[in-house]
Amino acid sequence: MSQTISTANAPVAPYTRITVRPMCAAAGAVIGGVDLSRPLDGETVAEIRRAFLDHCVIVFRDQDLDPARQIAFTEHFGKVEGHPLYRTPDIAEFPDVIVLEHKAGKFYKGKNKLWHSDVTVSETPPLGSVLHCRACWEGFADTMFANQYLAYEALSDAMRGFLEGLTAEHSGALNQTLNNADPINARIETIPDPVVHPVVRTHPETGRRALFVNPGFTYRIRELTNEESANLLAFLYDHAVQHQFIYRHRWRPGDVAMFDNRCLMHSVVQDHPHDMHRLMHRTTAAGDRPYL
Ligand code: SIN
Repeated sequence: MSQTISTANAPVAPYTRITVRPMCAAAGAVIGGVDLSRPLDGETVAEIRRAFLDHCVIVFRDQDLDPARQIAFTEHFGKVEGHPLYRTPDIAEFPDVIVLEHKAGKFYKGKNKLWHSDVTVSETPPLGSVLHCRACWEGFADTMFANQYLAYEALSDAMRGFLEGLTAEHSGALNQTLNNADPINARIETIPDPVVHPVVRTHPETGRRALFVNPGFTYRIRELTNEESANLLAFLYDHAVQHQFIYRHRWRPGDVAMFDNRCLMHSVVQDHPHDMHRLMHRTTAAGDRPYL
């Protein structure tokens, strides 16, 4: 095991079943010694879960998971659930596996270029998601993850105190508009009613607080005027994606990345060459209702 970067979340106990190589101070670790296509024993799962909480994004290289095995792995974290906005199954036998594909004639124009946490329009947004890269060109369409614990902790005491008194409405309307603007996408016909979440949430497993607003879904801060809300959200979005909070993942075919949706935002870099084939399978583990 090598651990060359010391992070605020550095583990206190050594790992014995897996290796953990942190990728940068903000987030991200490559996990070794695990073949996810085989059943995992309880101790290995416990160490993987600990690495996930310590590093927010964990990456397994050189994996080959069919949809059933990807679901089985995701279920170590929570019940696998589909996406409430995208209801047309991408794979008929596995309706909870979302296929994200860019290829010639089917350009992935990128609703996902917006920084977002997944599905915060749900009352219980996902715990996290697993992305399995089946095809890509290395060095293109990287995914960036922004650590929202660090973003929150970098604010002044006064700002943190102010934000802790606020709640925000989250809506699928922007997603619907962006999706339906491109006829290549299956239309989103209905969106759930907006939901309210705290602007700062406490992570239910680590107890740490994280900023919990995102440009993909957060509509407005309820306690403020529209103008105040728009200005505060603009400030928070700039603040939240500073370089020191970001891990940028450079995909290789076979990568499996699991990320914690409760303390991260993510965004895909939109530099896909026209003729590039990028194919990702995504599964999502159910989460809890956010609280301060
Ligand atoms: C997503 O935003 O869930 C997809 C990320 C990716 O395609 O890398």
